[in-house]
Amino acid sequence: MKRLWLCAAGAGLSLAFLVLHSRLSGPSNLRDSIFQISWRTKESLYRLDVGWPKRSERFTGATFCVAVDSLNGLVYVAQRGDNIQKVLVFTEDGYFLRAWNHTVDTPHGMFAASTLHEQSVWITDVGSGSFGHTIKKYNSFGDLVQVLGTPGQKGTGLNPLQFDNPAELYVEDTGDIYIVDGDGGLNNRLVKLSQDFMMLWLHGENGTGPAKFNIPHSITVDSSGRVWVADRGNKRIQVFDKDTGAWLGAWNNCFTEEGPSSVRFTPDGKYVIVAQLNLSRLLFLAAPPVGNIGSCSVISSIQLADQVLPHLLDISGETGAIYVAEIGAKQVQKYIPLRSYFPLFHV
Ligand SMILES: *[C@@H]1O[C@H](CO)[C@@H](O)[C@H](O)[C@H]1NC(C)=O
Ligand SMILES: *[C@@H]1O[C@H](CO)[C@@H](O)[C@H](O)[C@H]1NC(C)=O
Ligand SMILES: *[C@@H]1O[C@H](CO)[C@@H](O)[C@H](O)[C@H]1NC(C)=O
Repeated sequence: MKRLWLCAAGAGLSLAFLVLHSRLSGPSNLRDSIFQISWRTKESLYRLDVGWPKRSERFTGATFCVAVDSLNGLVYVAQRGDNIQKVLVFTEDGYFLRAWNHTVDTPHGMFAASTLHEQSVWITDVGSGSFGHTIKKYNSFGDLVQVLGTPGQKGTGLNPLQFDNPAELYVEDTGDIYIVDGDGGLNNRLVKLSQDFMMLWLHGENGTGPAKFNIPHSITVDSSGRVWVADRGNKRIQVFDKDTGAWLGAWNNCFTEEGPSSVRFTPDGKYVIVAQLNLSRLLFLAAPPVGNIGSCSVISSIQLADQVLPHLLDISGETGAIYVAEIGAKQVQKYIPLRSYFPLFHV
């Protein structure tokens, strides 16, 4: 089963390069559309780690999301299905540690928020059952420690908090929480909460203009204080100032074929990594310096096999390893940086 999905990974790099060259001599409209984006996909940045996890039979459902606690070397995976363990915990070395399924209905997104004092993982739940429409915080052993939202009740309210298909979240070390709500449903919003769950700012409108959303699906915060949102239905990434919520720009030109389903930064801050679900593709984009984000530029890509369907991904802040939750292939795969591009990592 596993082997089936391996062969196509990586091969996309040289292929993309060839396709580009053959198209340059094609009809002019094609040529123009190719020149609108800069594709520099000559170089591979990552390779598949075929040895992760050690044993893959723990993947018994549709693996929707993954979160890396790089402080403790843990990888959390959440999967959907009937009568299965919903959350699996592995080590970054690939050993299975434990699992739980209580209070998890239909997991969508995850975030590992470990500090020196506590190990925790947050899960967004898009189920319609009694644990649905919530965002839940667990400790590393699966004890439920916090519930945001009104369990079992979808809605648009902010007091009390309600969600409808909350997609993903990002939690800062300070405890501030950024939520994209959601994955279809009533809301198309980005909300920042303080550590005591008071609303700090909100962009709450459905639409195509600046700071409006259509399926805000994934979120991350970079080291220079910018919030990056994969606005999947609008085929763009939008960027905001994390303190004020001010809109800083959008990237459309890299996503003409399909919107981004996931967004993350490499720990060196050089690349934005994006998954495109139906294209079964990962893109590595040049991360722009502080301030205005300019336009986007694809540096490298990984073409996965057809129907692998990478949904959400996460990155180890220690090693730079990428873990990709593949709904179609029903597994999480690990990609590790090629040493020469990340000389600072000990891989
Ligand atoms: C939870 O997992 C156990 C063990 O795999 C299984 O027997 C049980 O049916 C699961 N419960 C749910 C609600 O899926
Ligand atoms: C949001 O707007 C899009 C079109 O811009 C529409 O297709 C979609 O149904 C709207 N969603 C909601 C929840 O109103
Ligand atoms: C992927 O394809 C499915 C089936 O055609 C569709 O329902 C879904 O909206 C697509 N997702 C994206 C992100 O384009």
